[in-house]
Formats: sequence, C-alpha cells, structure tokens
Amino acid sequence: VGQNLIKLLAVDSTNNFLKRMVSNSEPLPEGTVIMAENQYEGRGQVGSKWHAEPGKNLTFSILLRPSFMQLRAQFNLNMTISIAVQKALESLIGTGLSVKWPNDIYFGHQKIGGMLVENIVAGSHIKACIVGIGINVNQEVFETELQDRASSIYQILHRHVDLVTLLAEICSHIEAGYLKLKAGNYSGLRNEYLNYLYQYNVKANYRQNGEIMEGKIVDVSENGLLSLETIDGIKTYNFKEIEFIKP
Ligand code: BTN
Repeated sequence: VGQNLIKLLAVDSTNNFLKRMVSNSEPLPEGTVIMAENQYEGRGQVGSKWHAEPGKNLTFSILLRPSFMQLRAQFNLNMTISIAVQKALESLIGTGLSVKWPNDIYFGHQKIGGMLVENIVAGSHIKACIVGIGINVNQEVFETELQDRASSIYQILHRHVDLVTLLAEICSHIEAGYLKLKAGNYSGLRNEYLNYLYQYNVKANYRQNGEIMEGKIVDVSENGLLSLETIDGIKTYNFKEIEFIKP
C-alpha cells in the first residue's frame, strides 16, 4: 500500500479521481494511493462534505481489490482500516484516540479524521474498493461552527507533522491489517475494534427519531450494526439511525 503514490496538487475528490481511473480500466496496481494537496469537493459519509484547508491535511484514497471478500463481510475491512489508522496515530499522539462508530477518528470528544469507503461491486463480491481517508493534521483553526466538534493533530501536539511520513505510517499499518484479512485471519478483529470504540460500555446520550435517550454501546455486529443497551432492552441501529450527543 502506497508503493504507487500519485500526488495531485488539486482535485475535486481523491475518491472520485480514483473511481474515474478504475472505471476507465486504467491498469492500476492494488495499493495505489492518490493524495491531494487541495481537495475542493471532498465528500464525507452520506452526502456530507469534507472540508480541509489546502496543503495542511491528509486527504487520500487507496485502491484495494478485495475480490476474496463477500460484500456482506465489508465491515471487516472498515474495522481493519479504522484500527490501522488508530495505530498509526497512536504512535504519534499516544492515548485519547478512539474510533467513533462506524469509522470516525476521535480524540477526546472531537473528530480528527474520517473515512469514506466506496465499492465497485461485481455480483456479491467486491471488485474494487476505494478507501478515502481524511485526517486533520496541521490545520490550526477551524471555522466557528466546527471548532467544538473538530480538532487536528496540530491542536493536540502543538507542532507540525510531516504529511508524507504520516501517510507512509498509515499505509504500512493498513497493509499489515489488509494482508491479515486476505489470509482469512479474522480472529481478534472485532475485539480489537471494540477496544478502540468511542463510548464502548459507557452510558451516554443518543438521539433517535428526535428523542434523546440514554444508552450504552454493548456490541457492533458482524455487518456493522450498533447495539445499544437501553431501558427498553438491547436495540440495534443502522448507520444514521442514531446520533451521538456530545457530552
Ligand atoms: C466522513 O467523516 O464523513 C468521511 C470523510 C472522508 C474524507 C476523505 S478525504 C479523501 C477522500 N476523498 C473524499 O472525497 N472523501 C475522502
């Protein structure tokens, strides 16, 4: 992962760029990484936008070809990538990091990164997978409405970090996790993910259908659904059916 690195000065979205290359049947090796200094139409989960100050942050996409994987096992890949990013950042930041379900990177109660995984599917298998990752690295300030919720490595460490070195570190952790997955070694994956999970086993407030309720995350199922223990028993939620309330 990252041996074939294409650096762009500006692009709409590195995910879009990679998707266009794959659909044009460009012979790209698995593990190709597209990184952009300036991504002017960065996309987040479910149609949201991803803003990053040009030149200061990591915005990149990785091409994987997990043809060994059934579409329904997709969440294993999401967990693998989340854990890998977590490990890479941990060696830099230390404690305080977590993965907010399904795959946001948090420091304390603030978001410092996210990912957008998009598949090109053939039947029930994944033909190509575009793993887009955005990490707030050297951004010093955020716009007013974001500053409570977002942070960056700079805000945590009070120093600048070299983007290419961090990218290499992330890629090497992703490669290790991906090779394990490819070898069929799923053991411990879910437990490792749960160990990193934000608000795991902790009572917190969630909003569902406009109502606030108390719940405790007790599990994440094989296909990525969130299980909360509530006063009405264990309830299972799909992405976007539930909102975390910041304490
Ligand atoms: C989210 O938290 O909602 C996901 C954010 C994903 C952002 C990255 S930046 C690189 C890649 N290209 C995109 O357009 N989005 C992802």
